[in-house]
Amino acid sequence: MTALLRVERLSKSYGTLEVLREVSVELRRGETLCVIGPSGSGKSTLLRCLNLLESPDSGDVWLGGTKLTDPRADLDAARARIGMVFQHFNLFPHMTVERNISIALTTVKGMNREQAHGIALRKLEEVGLADFAGQRPTRLSGGQQQRVAIARSLAMEPEVMLFDEATSALDPELVKDVLAVMKDLAAGGMTMAVVTHEMGFAREAADRVAFMCDGVLAEIGTPNHMFDQPGHPRLRQFLSQVL
Ligand SMILES: Nc1ncnc2c1ncn2[C@@H]1O[C@H](COP(=O)(O)OP(=O)(O)O)[C@@H](O)[C@H]1O
Ligand SMILES: [Mg+2]
Repeated sequence: MTALLRVERLSKSYGTLEVLREVSVELRRGETLCVIGPSGSGKSTLLRCLNLLESPDSGDVWLGGTKLTDPRADLDAARARIGMVFQHFNLFPHMTVERNISIALTTVKGMNREQAHGIALRKLEEVGLADFAGQRPTRLSGGQQQRVAIARSLAMEPEVMLFDEATSALDPELVKDVLAVMKDLAAGGMTMAVVTHEMGFAREAADRVAFMCDGVLAEIGTPNHMFDQPGHPRLRQFLSQVL
């Protein structure tokens, strides 16, 4: 499999705090990579460096054949190829669910209203929310709102999706519907990097799991390897706390 997104020896500090230390990892086309690890280990910073919301101090990020850390790289074009879903979904409360999705299609992609509407409805159908198109987001549960946020991201036709603890802010009973949408996406061949505390999801949906600890990518492997034969002592310790 070829790498769609690749980081090489990525380092990032905030002041004297080294948050990422020479992290190298690749995301292969069609792969789901789950990133696990204790709070503060650098998982969010890694994702933010992947779509250049954050600029690394050293190291390189590649998207396909494009070196994003090249000062001449067209970052807006690159970011349009990468979708990101955060813990907080940030939907516009005064717009309908449909408009939350279609607005970027008309304003950023220059589509006409009808075309954008069609795509929004299709994406809502994919996340199981076709019936909610005309509602305000505030009428929806947190889990439904997060699925709208996923649909909004998918509507831009990204090549890669990054998820940063997409289910962490949700009530437990709302988590599974969001994870089901993410599993469907993974099974459908989307290339995904997923920071998650949901070990069941990582075991089932990930092709590979990466363990971050103190800014280092300490271990990476198949779910079977990571959960059943963890090598790194810190990974064993982490798993004993979360499983
Ligand atoms: N913008 C920032 N300024 C200063 N410190 C930060 C910033 N973002 C993250 N950090 C620190 O970097 C470390 C790693 O953060 P983060 O990548 O969010 O970890 P994780 O997502 O694994 O919990 C933490 O100690 C955090 O406090
Ligand atoms: Mg984080």
